[in-house]
Amino acid sequence: MEYRKLGRTGIEISAVGFGTMRLPTLDGVFSSIDIEKAKAVVRHAIDNGVNYVDTAYPYHLNGNSEKAVKEILADGYRQKVYVGDKLSMWVCDTYEECEEFFNGQLERTGAGYFDIYFLHSLDKNFWEKAKRLNVLKLFDKLIAEGKIKHIGFSFHDKYEVFEEIIDAYPWEFCLLQLNYMDMDYQAGEKGMKLAAEKGLGVFVMEPLKGGQLAKEPPKSVRRIWDESKFDMSPAARGISYLLDKPEITCVLSGMNEISQVDDNINTANKYTAGHKDEKELMLYARAREEFSKLIKIPCTRCQYCNPCPVGVDIPANIDYYNMGYMYDTVEHAKNFYNRPFFDNKRSTNCIQCGECLDKCPQHLQIPDLMKMIADEWAL
Ligand SMILES: NC(=O)c1ccc[n+]([C@@H]2O[C@H](COP(=O)([O-])OP(=O)(O)OC[C@H]3O[C@@H](n4cnc5c(N)ncnc54)[C@H](OP(=O)(O)O)[C@@H]3O)[C@@H](O)[C@H]2O)c1
Repeated sequence: MEYRKLGRTGIEISAVGFGTMRLPTLDGVFSSIDIEKAKAVVRHAIDNGVNYVDTAYPYHLNGNSEKAVKEILADGYRQKVYVGDKLSMWVCDTYEECEEFFNGQLERTGAGYFDIYFLHSLDKNFWEKAKRLNVLKLFDKLIAEGKIKHIGFSFHDKYEVFEEIIDAYPWEFCLLQLNYMDMDYQAGEKGMKLAAEKGLGVFVMEPLKGGQLAKEPPKSVRRIWDESKFDMSPAARGISYLLDKPEITCVLSGMNEISQVDDNINTANKYTAGHKDEKELMLYARAREEFSKLIKIPCTRCQYCNPCPVGVDIPANIDYYNMGYMYDTVEHAKNFYNRPFFDNKRSTNCIQCGECLDKCPQHLQIPDLMKMIADEWAL
């Protein structure tokens, strides 16, 4: 396993880290973790070199992932890894609630302290709220008390917002959504480079687009991969693309089978930074183009339609729908669309007011599309 320096923190993290957002579940119920299997899978990863375990309150709902981490890291496993958790701005409304929430996380995970701590899932609104609640002052306090060792933020908004946040606090790392289909999405590759230039470590989330890039690709894409000099699984194709980039410290992967752990560790053992030449990278550009041809709704994710007056996240709804057809994973994408955390943003809430219509530079008939997605996909 390759270990990479995490910015200026002085610690080294395994190139593949364990994300506990998609642990094995019982009967497919998201909130019901199959703890024995989860224990076996995560410990197998640790025994084979993974030294970072990442959790958050909403994973598997209401702190269930955090509680699972406590059980998984019993029997001496806590001492073998760095543990990371996140302050989710949507669950606290005052400074005191943030601190109480944090202490709850320490208790649920049994971690004692967090080696790695993120201000969670920042967008413009959550960032403004964090500043309003004086969260940065709370971080100073928790760091001084030794409850947080290293601090960063995870991010889901435009590059311009990323630029603002990155300079607002002495962050040591960030967590970005990056994969070979999303290098121009949110902070994107540009954000990754900026973070590295400023000496921050870079964690990656959704490296396989939540598993969609791990499936057997459509034939047109398969033919492109057949030209590659590397014979690898679709998941390895996705993860090695990221490990190729020296700016990236750690690719967080959600794994729920030992075979997935082995595959991803094998990828990290074999494919270090700089292993892909121009020709290989060109194959990824062509695959991206082929996948893009399968897009059903020509939304460019410009976000001009947001905010919707009733909070429907229009681009996200379209994205799920497109992903299902692009990667031939409709059932998988439907699950994402119907997950509880998306309740307020789902197209089922569209009131057909049409306020979005004039804002869309692609002139999409958004209310019709929201209805169509709801009719076809809502459970
Ligand atoms: N802070 C944030 O805002 C945020 C948001 C998202 C994620 N995260 C963090 O980032 C971590 C990673 O994100 P993610 O879970 O979406 O990662 P991901 O790697 O994109 O997706 C994980 C899924 O990929 C599949 N997979 C992984 N390795 C595989 C392999 N070798 N072969 C076949 N399938 C494989 C599994 O799908 P199946 O289930 O279909 O088998 C797994 O559930 C999360 O667990 C979480 O810790 C943070």
